[in-house]
Amino acid sequence: MEFSIKSGSPEKQRSACVVVGVFEPRKLSAAAEIVDNAAHQFLSDILRRGDMEGKAGTSLLLHGVSGVEADRVLLVGLGKEREFREKEYRAALATAVRQLNETGGFDGTVYLTELNVKKRDVAWKIRQAALVVQETLYRFDRLKSKKDEVRRPVRKLTFCVTRRSELSAAENALAEGLAIAAGMELAKDLGNLPGNICTPTYLAEQAKQLATSQGLGVDILDRADMEKLGMNTLLSVARGSHEPPKFIVLRHAGGASGAKPVVLVGKGITFDSGGISLKPGPEMDEMKYDMCGAASVLGTLKAAALMKLPINVIGIIPSTENMPGGSATKPGDIITSMSGQTVEILNTDAEGRLILCDALTYVERFDPECVVDIATLTGACVIALGHVATGLLANNEALAKELLDAGHHSYDRAWQMPLWDDYQEQLKSNFADMANIGGRPAGTITAACFLARFTEKYHWAHLDIAGTAWRSGKEKGATGRPVPLLTHFLIDRANRAPKTSSKRKRE
Ligand code: BES
Ligand code: MN
Ligand code: ZN
Repeated sequence: MEFSIKSGSPEKQRSACVVVGVFEPRKLSAAAEIVDNAAHQFLSDILRRGDMEGKAGTSLLLHGVSGVEADRVLLVGLGKEREFREKEYRAALATAVRQLNETGGFDGTVYLTELNVKKRDVAWKIRQAALVVQETLYRFDRLKSKKDEVRRPVRKLTFCVTRRSELSAAENALAEGLAIAAGMELAKDLGNLPGNICTPTYLAEQAKQLATSQGLGVDILDRADMEKLGMNTLLSVARGSHEPPKFIVLRHAGGASGAKPVVLVGKGITFDSGGISLKPGPEMDEMKYDMCGAASVLGTLKAAALMKLPINVIGIIPSTENMPGGSATKPGDIITSMSGQTVEILNTDAEGRLILCDALTYVERFDPECVVDIATLTGACVIALGHVATGLLANNEALAKELLDAGHHSYDRAWQMPLWDDYQEQLKSNFADMANIGGRPAGTITAACFLARFTEKYHWAHLDIAGTAWRSGKEKGATGRPVPLLTHFLIDRANRAPKTSSKRKRE
């Protein structure tokens, strides 16, 4: 798909289709009104006859409207103007894209981006438009032998802005939106791939390819390297599987050479059977998504590289399967982590924290500015926050606020939970420094409390994406979250990076 930005009058666009909005009940948006006047009230007549109420989700395609240069005019229902917010804006764009794909037209000129969305500026609207388009068109059919081909897909979209003075901000936002969309697409593809294809070795291969195509540094540590480093809790998870574990290190060196890096750590369990503490059968297939944290790290690094963000970012992915093989770790086993702290494994299904804790110790060597881990860590987080907000816990309030803000700005929202010491008691073990589970109460918090014991040397935040990384049911599939949140976080950091770093460039 080709994208561009424009400012100009809707009736004058030489395009296969001009897209304008209609509010409920029967109220033309500003752009629709201009079209209406050029067309001698043709649109008003249609509304009066009751063919278009403006209800959200509806649309009406008009051909050969006189007074209008474009071949078609697509009216998109927006719902009530008072209730028109982020969600409604995104839904209207999705409807428009779906309808444009149904027409025979090659291109579309979209005026929905001129609509007012409360408290959101042009840049936000354009970024979101790019994201919604790419999300709406996303298909994962590479493993189907028959694909649903769109007969004549739209190939070119133009987003319109009201004033010429908005053009440059809009063009920047478009580039950002497309970079984020590319990162999300990578994250979704990796998430959607099944466990028999997307193994730790496959993830490592993808990391190498990404490094080559985007000019990133990459190192892959294998089992022997991890043994030398003493990553025993990570290796204890890998014991039950025949798939070799991998530890991936990716570097985007966009900032000044001495500048401390932001480190992202993504949970890369390519299949979580639960291990000896085997999970129940129903929906176990969804545990192929247990590497979505890893996928979001790869996606975010891709976006950062595409934007040439002037900031140093390191992506870390501990990756293994969690399987119940004959050498698998057993409940009651005690393991010495890379940090030297001992862990009594009371439940082998609490494996995410076991691979993350060694990764969180490993990253000390980078002297990080801050560390953010991203993990499908607890079912409890799905119970607490559902599929809307990502869980956020942090040992530093400023970092927590930055991430919350990034979530708000990217409309990929997170919600903070307390990381109080009071919860640490739940991790007491009679035989080791800590247990790997804290019982049923506050499962998301005790999981983070476990990680907190390995992150005392730096500013750290944890994102629990168990509820937000994929959708279940009929629409089953990876969402690409939290790539938008993370990318926005990096953009904001790059913008306030010290002046010594190279200026932000764009090709
Ligand atoms: N990958 C799961 C978390 C998960 C479960 C994500 C369901 C999404 C949906 C994780 O490894 C896990 O199994 N966690 C256990 C922890 C428990 C044993 C303390 C859980 O949440 O049940
Ligand atoms: Mn598990
Ligand atoms: Zn897991």
